[in-house]
Amino acid sequence: MTRIAFASCCRYESFPHIPHNLKQAEWRVVADTNPDYLFLLGDQIYMDYGLRFFSQEYIRSPEKLTIDQFEAKMDAKYSQQFSVPHFNNLITKMREKNALFATWDDHDFAWDNALGSDVPDDKKAVSTRLFKQWVLGQEKPDDKPIYRYVDLPKDNPVARFIILDNRSYSNKKSMLGETQMAFLLEKMQHKLAHTFVCSSLTLTQGGEDWSNFSDEYALFCQAVHASEPNVFFVAGDIHKNKLLEPNKKRPCYEIISSGISVNYLALPFSFDDRHNWGSIEFDENSVTVELHKVKVSNLGEIKETECTRSTLSLLNTG
Ligand SMILES: [Fe+2]
Repeated sequence: MTRIAFASCCRYESFPHIPHNLKQAEWRVVADTNPDYLFLLGDQIYMDYGLRFFSQEYIRSPEKLTIDQFEAKMDAKYSQQFSVPHFNNLITKMREKNALFATWDDHDFAWDNALGSDVPDDKKAVSTRLFKQWVLGQEKPDDKPIYRYVDLPKDNPVARFIILDNRSYSNKKSMLGETQMAFLLEKMQHKLAHTFVCSSLTLTQGGEDWSNFSDEYALFCQAVHASEPNVFFVAGDIHKNKLLEPNKKRPCYEIISSGISVNYLALPFSFDDRHNWGSIEFDENSVTVELHKVKVSNLGEIKETECTRSTLSLLNTG
């Protein structure tokens, strides 16, 4: 069995009462399960969050920053996040075994709900470079796209993981852009048992989901129905844990976990705090999903963890 852990939406500023060195013990809980691979599905930092009344970094405020201010702020946020010991320990461990994969979402790309077409090229270039340096760990950032695929486990693959970039090329009509969409459809064709499409945005949940982009979504649905490998969609973004079964609208399971360390609307008190992450265990003939909820004390200690475990039904078995 191979096990991946996945998480998204980590806002350093969310729980200011917890001292830096104790922050985000959720990552230690993930590390303790010793996953084979880790997927970060976006919003590793938050350039903006919350309403103007509660937050100096209220939503869409990065739009007003000069390019130098934007870069300085983003770099400082990454620096702060990567110096959180619980996070850094896990990232270091996963990087040592070459087992870290990541994409981004709106708050680490530019600002709340930003489409690629909304963001000027100079800001996109800055956020792309900083993402590659900090999150992908590239000393000299390459010029490859952030979307990519990997077959896992590496020594004897049974599943293909396709990691999407929902932001760089998006506009009102398209979430992926033509080139990335063609890449996805091509890479979904293979001989392994499963395809996991990993995305920051969900398929059908929340305001920004892929089903809003109707032409592209229809193409994806067609590809899932025609797929020989079992297809699963793994996502974050909505600050909830959800496992949704295929139905008329949804061509495949949608596995969502998000909000590993974030609260609601940047309220200055504890409200709707999220400490969620997910894991998926698989081999050729089975896929089991665990959605975890952690409770964290005011001092940053883990109080309890809750987990729902579901074995998914597969259309095709090896
Ligand atoms: Fe988020």
